[in-house]
Amino acid sequence: MKVYIVGTGYVGLVTAVCLADLGHLVCGVDIDPEKIETLQNGGCPIYEPGLTELLKKNLEEGRLSFKVDIGSEINEYDVAMIAVGTPERERDGRADLFYVAQTAKQIALHTTKNMLVVIGKSTVPIGTAQQISESLVSHNSVTSFHVGSNPETLREGNAVADFMQPDRIIMGGDIIATGCLRQLYEKIECPKVVTDTCSAEMIKLTANFMLAQRISSANALAQICEASGANIENVMQGVGLDKRIGPYFLQSGVGYGGSCFPKDTKNLIAIAKHHRIDHAIFQTVVDVNESQICYFMRKVEEMAIMTLKKRVIAIWGVAFKPETDDVREAPSIKIIKELLEDGAIVRVFDPVANVRREFSGKITHCDDMYEAVHGAEILLIVTEWECFKSADLKKVKSLMETPKIVDGRNIFNPSEMKQLGFKYSSIGRP
Ligand code: UDX
Repeated sequence: MKVYIVGTGYVGLVTAVCLADLGHLVCGVDIDPEKIETLQNGGCPIYEPGLTELLKKNLEEGRLSFKVDIGSEINEYDVAMIAVGTPERERDGRADLFYVAQTAKQIALHTTKNMLVVIGKSTVPIGTAQQISESLVSHNSVTSFHVGSNPETLREGNAVADFMQPDRIIMGGDIIATGCLRQLYEKIECPKVVTDTCSAEMIKLTANFMLAQRISSANALAQICEASGANIENVMQGVGLDKRIGPYFLQSGVGYGGSCFPKDTKNLIAIAKHHRIDHAIFQTVVDVNESQICYFMRKVEEMAIMTLKKRVIAIWGVAFKPETDDVREAPSIKIIKELLEDGAIVRVFDPVANVRREFSGKITHCDDMYEAVHGAEILLIVTEWECFKSADLKKVKSLMETPKIVDGRNIFNPSEMKQLGFKYSSIGRP
């Protein structure tokens, strides 16, 4: 099929490259000329394992192209996908649909063919596909539009694999739209959920909420474990063996970040409020996640003893999770802000990500994890990159001013750290 994908961010670009690799003819469209130029030259604006190689391969084999702005070439395509950003609206947490609305209007204004399938890919409030349909018809009375919903289920850092081997593919819409989606994904063997667009949009929000809820539950339980002498890791090992619960997304730490969980949980709160439905369960997941930073910072303050002012604090990891360069809603940003407010001197290292835009000139970005700990009084582990787990801890201890570690992702073993002579604190473990 011929696919026209509007929006070449984390979701749109992975979708464009992978659909091309499945054999479709794909055009990726964006409003950012610099990003499009980079893509046309085989460059990848985001760090996503395996994506650059696939991008280059499909460009060379002629199945993939990129262009700036929507144009009349859209009429050469069978389906248009909307994969633009839907950031959280400051005032109420609902998704900001400005770019979705702008894209729907541009699609309508440039489409002259008799029929076009338009698929919503971005994470949106329930009912958005219907609003897209209304917008298309209001700007174009000639074309017959069939609007569907195909929410993304990609984890950053694992997006290509998640696209090619998904647990399921969600297809919302009428017989034409869902038939088109079946054709798009016919080479991918997995359960395919065919439903209406509202339910498809709700599946995505619900899945992310349920995952975020597991993390906040693990974090709240970790605080009880720590207060009562239990070990959260042993607890979650025992709990996770219950087949009804399962072992995934029960890892306690400094809390979740990223462009999805925070936004989607707040989106559900806003939707519940809009319908005058009790939103306490959704709000609690958000509140626990936000309180996890305070819980972590209390540990840092205890480790620093009287004050953090003028103390050199090293941070390993600023990305919201390993294997990505994305720092959106990353716990590291909230932690660094608090450290700077307390007058600490902050040195950070991350193998891929950086927070120069957020903290330009206020902190030191080091080129090496050992450089970061040189002269530091406390080391904070905020992202569980593999390279930190295999660090030479004797070398770390020799470089630090005082051997103190607050481990926000439980990457080290408490008894080993004690034997090495570190003052060590972690999450939910004695
Ligand atoms: C998530 C969903 O997993 C994905 O299906 C959806 O399409 C997009 O949002 P992503 O945000 O990329 O993907 O990352 P994910 O791996 O889900 O982790 C999200 C956050 O939860 C990270 O900050 C991670 O550190 C944290 N996390 C994850 C935990 O704190 N504990 C866990 O056990 C798992």
